[in-house]
Amino acid sequence: MKTDLESLYIALFTLLILFSCNNNQEGEDSDKNIAEVSESIDNKVADLLDRMTLEEKIGQMNQYNGFWDVTGPTPEAGDAAKKYEHLKKGYVGSMLNVTGVDEVRAVQKIAVEETRLGIPLIIGFDVIHGYKTISPIPLAEAASWDLEAIKKSAEVAAKEAAAAGINWTFAPMVDISRDARWGRVMEGAGEDPFLGSKIGVARVKGFQGEDLSLPSTIAACAKHWAGYGFAESGRDYNTVDIGTSTLNNIVFPPFKACSEVGVKTFMNSFNELNGIPATGNAYLQRNILKDKWKFDGFVVSDWGSINEMIAHGYARDKKQAAELAAKAGSDMDMESYAYVDELANLVREGTVSESLIDDAVTRILKVKFELGLFDEPYRYCDKEREETIIGSEEIQETVLDMAKKSIVLLKNENNILPLKKQGLRIALIGALASDKTSPLGSWRLAADDSTAVSVMEGMLQYKENNLEYAKGADVALGETSFPFEVKINTTDKSEFKRAIGIAKNADVVVMVLGEHGFQSGEGRSRTSLDLPGVQQALLEAVYKVNKNIVLVLNNGRPLAITWADKHIPAIVEAWQLGTQSGNAIAQVLYGDYNPSGKLPMTFPRDVGQVPIYYNYKNTGRPVIPAPNQVFWSHYIDESNTPLYPFGHGLSYTSFSYSNLRTETLSQNEIKVSVDVKNVGPVEGKEVVQLYIGDLVASITRPVKELKGFEMVALDANESKTVTFVLTNKELGFYNNEGVFVTEPGAFKVFVGGSSDTVLESGFELK
Ligand code: BGC
Repeated sequence: MKTDLESLYIALFTLLILFSCNNNQEGEDSDKNIAEVSESIDNKVADLLDRMTLEEKIGQMNQYNGFWDVTGPTPEAGDAAKKYEHLKKGYVGSMLNVTGVDEVRAVQKIAVEETRLGIPLIIGFDVIHGYKTISPIPLAEAASWDLEAIKKSAEVAAKEAAAAGINWTFAPMVDISRDARWGRVMEGAGEDPFLGSKIGVARVKGFQGEDLSLPSTIAACAKHWAGYGFAESGRDYNTVDIGTSTLNNIVFPPFKACSEVGVKTFMNSFNELNGIPATGNAYLQRNILKDKWKFDGFVVSDWGSINEMIAHGYARDKKQAAELAAKAGSDMDMESYAYVDELANLVREGTVSESLIDDAVTRILKVKFELGLFDEPYRYCDKEREETIIGSEEIQETVLDMAKKSIVLLKNENNILPLKKQGLRIALIGALASDKTSPLGSWRLAADDSTAVSVMEGMLQYKENNLEYAKGADVALGETSFPFEVKINTTDKSEFKRAIGIAKNADVVVMVLGEHGFQSGEGRSRTSLDLPGVQQALLEAVYKVNKNIVLVLNNGRPLAITWADKHIPAIVEAWQLGTQSGNAIAQVLYGDYNPSGKLPMTFPRDVGQVPIYYNYKNTGRPVIPAPNQVFWSHYIDESNTPLYPFGHGLSYTSFSYSNLRTETLSQNEIKVSVDVKNVGPVEGKEVVQLYIGDLVASITRPVKELKGFEMVALDANESKTVTFVLTNKELGFYNNEGVFVTEPGAFKVFVGGSSDTVLESGFELK
């Protein structure tokens, strides 16, 4: 006989089982739903493909740039007329740089209502850091190390772009780069593959959301596949020549991570790799991406990169370029006209198999179905959404939050920052301080000039101080808009005098110096990393009359500011922070926001040290053998160390690290814990960073590699224990056969607030 209590237990237990079965049931159902949806998409794609002519299939592989004012008169001659004709015949699968609901609707209408099969276009655009409302440049966002904020920033960018008719962004750029001369470092997440992977994933998730078929989400694109960030001498589009280990362990990981979370597209790159242009590189696009990683989205070429294989000396003409690109797995041709002009003949004469075309078209159509374009081709063309979403308060708040989080406090001697809010006479100096365009940075094609909040506007909101402004010197002269080369002011110092005058009488001088917004970005490589033009001279001239200077940097890449570091008491790295730039900077200068950013890229002492990065190898001669000896790996005129290391960034409070301990949980599972305490006067956030060093391995390993980080928020005097668990994923590496291995042996572990101020311990893998 059961007691009442026993019966109650049994009843409860049964309920529990039933509940958990139900739950499983739901889980299985939703898995089934996803499987059913994708199966039904596969069927729809197959059915459509069956009904397509060869030319229509190839049309899907053809992408054109916006070609005429689509809401205006129809083009009658030339390139635009050809594109228009192609569009009407269904020979265009995608367009880029067509923006705004009216324009997108106009081209979509032709594709959907005038072509034989009515296949909708996928509309691409470079939504790199915002559409109209601009977020910090991607490198700046990376300095936040705040994955949630970065994801949110991509999410609102997608929302705004989608409201303007766009459904595909050519972002994120996940190229790792160690070369600050390369202008496109502004567009990525810096030098580290671990951080770069996390950020790439956050951005993909932000753009694509949970459900790609919503009209607020857009397809993302991991670019540029691959190796583009390693252009020799930092010169854009230059030859890339890197070894297998760098390719596998540094270049590939962020791409792989994006592929694993379902990024819908990849873009190939302009560079060659081992003598084969990436666009014609079957190893990259077929062997690694589509076969090994099972990527089921599509690959778009970079702009004209199919044709560029001719200049590379890899294809003899456009026809061969089309053949090589199609065979290598480039699914869509961006603006080379190679596929649309040549592929049909290549198939008919048997040079290119139609099954390759079918594969490419299947991939492209699938993404279009997933976006919901077949159900509702005008779903991104809602005038009301365009009017209410673009520039909305939610988006402004998000980009402001992102901007504050992106700021890195590089130096703050004698706590000159934060500034007092009352009774200060402040001299604000620098053309960039009143600039409302440059802070938008590069790659902000849809944003209007003069729409950023300037530093001056931000600071003027703190009304109880006295602020005087002097430009000091222009950064650039003449035409600076896209796509023009920026002409830097290297001669005009006529305004120095006034700047020096206001500095003399000030309690504190805030100088906003750095690069023009279009000095970085595509095609904008530099051989110098100094403050451009006469700005260094301006800084030194002002310093002569007032040493109490806060230097606010605006730049799209690491700069070599060694003189400033030696003389200027406070330096704030404010990058190009986008629409809300001035508000974010003012809040940090006045302490209404306590900075927590950390550098995602090493700052060199001198451009001659570049490429310089924290995860370097030891070499056979890492240290000086005896005093004054020369035969070791060094420079005779500069130290090996950076000016500011990767991961560096201060706060208005400070943090102490103690009690670093490791524990082996199981084979290849190591727990690492550390106590972090806020030992300063105010609350603050710290990015706790964990690095490991694999001491002896079958291929040489970097001296240290980032393998974990966590942001902790601590009140004054508060402490927390931060715990990381290292697994195979963090402990292993790719050997030169491309196999991921974890090898037994001794490891070092380092934890701290930057890559060089660290507590050290170790563990052994059995
Ligand atoms: C760039 C790509 C970009 C494309 C379309 C190319 O020049 O390399 O990153 O997405 O243009 O604008």
